[in-house]
Amino acid sequence: MTKRVAIIGAEPSGLAALRAFQSAKAKGVEVPEVVCFEKQDDWGGLWKYTWRTGLDQYGEPVHGSMYRYLWSNGPKECLEFADYSFEEHFGRAIPSYPPRAVLHDYIMGRVERAGVRDTVRFDSPVKGVVWDEAAQLFTVTVKDNKADRTYSETFDYVIVACGHFSTPNVPTFEGIETFPGRVLHAHDFRSADEFAGKDVLMIGSSYSAEDIGTQCIKYGARSVTFSYRTRPLGFDWPEQFSQKPLLTKVAGHTATFLDGTTKHVDAIVLCTGYQHHFPFLADDLRLVTNNVLYPDNLWQGVVWQHNPKLFYIGMQDQFFTFNMFDAQAWYVRDLILGRLPIPDAEARAADNAAWVARDRACADPSEQIDFQADYVCQLIAATDYPDLDTETVAALFKQWEHDKEHDIMGYRNHSYRSVLTGTMSPRHHTNWMDALDDSLEAFLASGETV
Ligand SMILES: Cc1cc2nc3c(=O)[nH]c(=O)nc-3n(C[C@H](O)[C@H](O)[C@H](O)COP(=O)(O)OP(=O)(O)OC[C@H]3O[C@@H](n4cnc5c(N)ncnc54)[C@H](O)[C@@H]3O)c2cc1C
Ligand SMILES: NC(=O)c1ccc[n+]([C@@H]2O[C@H](COP(=O)([O-])OP(=O)(O)OC[C@H]3O[C@@H](n4cnc5c(N)ncnc54)[C@H](OP(=O)(O)O)[C@@H]3O)[C@@H](O)[C@H]2O)c1
Repeated sequence: MTKRVAIIGAEPSGLAALRAFQSAKAKGVEVPEVVCFEKQDDWGGLWKYTWRTGLDQYGEPVHGSMYRYLWSNGPKECLEFADYSFEEHFGRAIPSYPPRAVLHDYIMGRVERAGVRDTVRFDSPVKGVVWDEAAQLFTVTVKDNKADRTYSETFDYVIVACGHFSTPNVPTFEGIETFPGRVLHAHDFRSADEFAGKDVLMIGSSYSAEDIGTQCIKYGARSVTFSYRTRPLGFDWPEQFSQKPLLTKVAGHTATFLDGTTKHVDAIVLCTGYQHHFPFLADDLRLVTNNVLYPDNLWQGVVWQHNPKLFYIGMQDQFFTFNMFDAQAWYVRDLILGRLPIPDAEARAADNAAWVARDRACADPSEQIDFQADYVCQLIAATDYPDLDTETVAALFKQWEHDKEHDIMGYRNHSYRSVLTGTMSPRHHTNWMDALDDSLEAFLASGETV
């Protein structure tokens, strides 16, 4: 009987899995029946912008954490699919830091071309996954929101690709319940316009704080204060920015920090990260991890230690993104096709422990980049995913780190060379700080100027 594979989520990770099976099929390989369940009404995941916050039209938690005016925070040359270059998609070279709509278009282009849409069931959040040891099958329970009906089907394999930057981590602070301004988590941030003229406090010192903070200034905020728990963001910030240790309390509009200093603030944005949240998975199948480069209990970063018929894609913290998800998807596909061996539980655990130890020993971002490059490289070497020079991608990531360090407000004006095509990206027609229109049309208009 034909084996069945369920994929949960139709965004870069889930779509990578769809594309991996499709590419094998196109080469004449007999592949299992693949069904992809997607909670939203179209594919695109985080990259599909939604104005909604809270609950969607069906009462489901809104998945989207992206906002208007979001531009890639890393060079596109680092995330390029090895089997589909930006040049192929756009018919010409484009600048290195595209806004969200441009990356969305690129991701969609590959899967539309692959013709896999009919394998996705939209408006279909997965509500339950349990394993039947006797039958050696998973039962997947799904709510068809359009038809308003719940049903279950059985599968031989399940691939969890639902992302992990959607369920916010929301700490609380003394006095916050009576704060007279807006308090929101980054997950619910949609547009910087509302903060024009305001003093905005960002809690957290990672990518969301940095990006939402710079964006608020770009669209007219009066000041941005970053409040860190472990370490400040660093960088040589212009005078509208300040960095403070952790917020201890708010009273009226006055925020007090761990060092005793205070600051007037009009709004608070909790840029405090996300939880790996899998409410649909039975406890014995559920990955429990923080946002790290190598989660425990995932052999090769993808195989669930306690049941090797369950796979996760994209659960790592991410320097590498789209091409890492591809590398993982091709690897998972070949495990399912029986082209690659799965060692016994003891060997998997030992191998996993070694990777986890190496991750935790990384001393700085440069070592972390090399670590993830090595991980992606060894996955790619095992399959027929097109060769990707991960060493050169790692060098680009380090250049990006350097460029940010040099000019945090201007690093997006830099250009990099495609690892795939060798083409140097043109400079964008407008400096990022002055580029207020983030539409695809505005970005591509005369995009080849110097
Ligand atoms: C604000 C923000 C900005 C980012 N910017 C960049 C960037 O500039 N460059 C970059 O490379 N990466 C960026 N990322 C990283 C991002 O994680 C990846 O680019 C990518 O979107 C991850 O893909 P994914 O498929 O793993 O997850 P997601 O994009 O989150 O997609 C998961 C999919 O699963 C679906 N789903 C969830 N639960 C269920 C369920 N129960 N049943 C069915 N379907 C379900 C969702 O609807 C969604 O479509 C950013 C992340 C955030 C939060
Ligand atoms: N333009 C873009 O492309 C863009 C924009 C935004 C985000 N992103 C992406 O989104 C992903 C998530 O980034 P993120 O910044 O949201 O999450 P993150 O990288 O996981 O960082 C979470 C931050 O929250 C802090 N934090 C957690 N709990 C806290 C608490 N109780 N009190 C105070 N601080 C707390 C952490 O501080 P500690 O250091 O103390 O743990 C850390 O600084 C990344 O992949 C990033 O690249 C991209």
